[in-house]
Amino acid sequence: MSALNKKNILLCVSGGIAAYKAPELVRQLRAHGANVQVVLTRSAENFVSETSLQAVSGNPVRNSLWDKSAESAMSHIELARWADCLLMAPATANLISSLASGATPDLLTTLALATEAPVFVAPAMNLKMWDKPATVRNIHQLKTDGAIVLGPASGDQACGESGMGRMLQPEEIVEALNNHFSATTLLAGKRVVITAGPTREAIDPVRFISNHSSGKQGFALATAAQQAGAEVCLISGPVNAQTPLLVERIDVVTAQEMFDAVMAQLGRCDIFIGVAAVADYKPEEVRSQKIKKSAETRNSSLKLVENPDIILAVTQHKNPPYTVGFAAETESVIANARAKKRRKNLDLIIVNDVSDARIGFDSEENEVTLIWETGEQVLKKASKELISQSIISSIAQSLSGVEPSAAL
Ligand code: C5P
Repeated sequence: MSALNKKNILLCVSGGIAAYKAPELVRQLRAHGANVQVVLTRSAENFVSETSLQAVSGNPVRNSLWDKSAESAMSHIELARWADCLLMAPATANLISSLASGATPDLLTTLALATEAPVFVAPAMNLKMWDKPATVRNIHQLKTDGAIVLGPASGDQACGESGMGRMLQPEEIVEALNNHFSATTLLAGKRVVITAGPTREAIDPVRFISNHSSGKQGFALATAAQQAGAEVCLISGPVNAQTPLLVERIDVVTAQEMFDAVMAQLGRCDIFIGVAAVADYKPEEVRSQKIKKSAETRNSSLKLVENPDIILAVTQHKNPPYTVGFAAETESVIANARAKKRRKNLDLIIVNDVSDARIGFDSEENEVTLIWETGEQVLKKASKELISQSIISSIAQSLSGVEPSAAL
């Protein structure tokens, strides 16, 4: 049975050309057993008719905060409470801007502010509008505030151009919602510890050794694990990323600090996911004064010593959690990852090919292969959020004894 069965979905349609897909979206949601109510903005009515949405949803369609008969049947606050989720599809740049700022110019945005349910946003707009700093800022704000942004996709646009900004197809949106609702109890009762970001190893008071890790993948996994019902502790190196909602965050700088923070958590940890790009080496000596450019330092070299291997220490613990490592490889990707999995005694290793600039470090998307002892699973290129949801559901399956036995 679909996880959407009997779920109350409030579909909020704003005025973009992709609104013509709204009736099909409603049809597919209902085919999964969901109850759907639709709210339109005034401009959406230029693209899709109230009558057709009423017919496919089987419910009256609402478009105004000031409709007395609709309000007396179910007030907007009751409607916001009724919803198990709000789905903004399509979400125009204008709607996204209102949502990001908390403005409530109409019924739809008022509902978004009044609800405690998760809010899904499926943007649809011209590619130039999608790229504008204002939109980038607003989307970042929405994600920070806990909204789940679905897409957009790249492709031909109604305006004749081609690029990012197309709304995801109805079936992709329905799949994302289905994944969300099937995930909410996957890791209930589990405590998950995740390391993320880089570490910094000081050379002197102003210089350090580090790497390009942005922390995005680790933070997205923390969000996905929390949404799957887990209690999550995120141990992060220095990154510029907002703490996911309801996640405990411990900030560290060096590999040794990260090691100490992880060890302190091991008594209460069911799943450990090492996403951090931990510096393998640190300078043997940290100078107390800034090293000056001089004849003496011109030909000097830096002596390095090894940092502790955090994940190895986790798997060597007397009572190890289910342990997941990440491997960023540039050559013989799968073979190297498999060797690393054995060497570190991991339950699962997740590998990405960082020689591919479209994915991995500091990018918004990733494409990974999950390698267990008995099989592999490839997760095709997608946002780090969607990849994280898939990883979490695969980990949950593996914990319950189901591991893929062949490449999927
Ligand atoms: O750096 P390497 O490729 O060995 O990283 C593989 C895995 O080991 C990653 O999950 C990383 O977080 C973890 N690691 C660690 N401590 C280190 C080095 C790596 O936990 N010192």
